[in-house]
Amino acid sequence: MKTTPSVLFVCLGNICRSPLAEAAFRKAAAEAGQDAIADSAGTAAYHVGSPPDPRSIAIAAHYDVDIANYAGRQIAAADYTLFTHIFALDDANLADIRRCAPGNATAEIALLLDVVDGREGQPVLDPYYGDEEDFETTWADVSAAAEALVARLLTGRD
Ligand code: 4NP
Repeated sequence: MKTTPSVLFVCLGNICRSPLAEAAFRKAAAEAGQDAIADSAGTAAYHVGSPPDPRSIAIAAHYDVDIANYAGRQIAAADYTLFTHIFALDDANLADIRRCAPGNATAEIALLLDVVDGREGQPVLDPYYGDEEDFETTWADVSAAAEALVARLLTGRD
């Protein structure tokens, strides 16, 4: 029996980008009828227990996803075996995720935009010090990745 894909999205603070990546993925998977488990985390512990940034909550709401009840958490050793995929939002996140990986890690670890044709190696830029337009860009980036990822999961390549 094929296991249900389980995907963890990881940025620095888990209040701006990775909650949006989780939300976009949940939306894309639901629309495609793809069964999947999704969560998000930060490499840092700055915002453990906090809701997403209000600008992330607003942009997700604009695209009909409610993330107001998400709570920040830090990536943990168990995540590397619990999830089938761990996606980093940028290169610094990717390096931190790899550095903290336990020896028994089984999850596929990759940069999120690597799943989007033509955008391999690109980061989802941190909008934390930016404005609403930057959050629109974040939503567009994570939505493109979510749709590509769901398409990949539907073809059974993962
Ligand atoms: P995120 O953005 O990694 O996309 O959640 C940030 C959120 C908070 C901080 C940095 C980035 N911070 O320094 O508190």
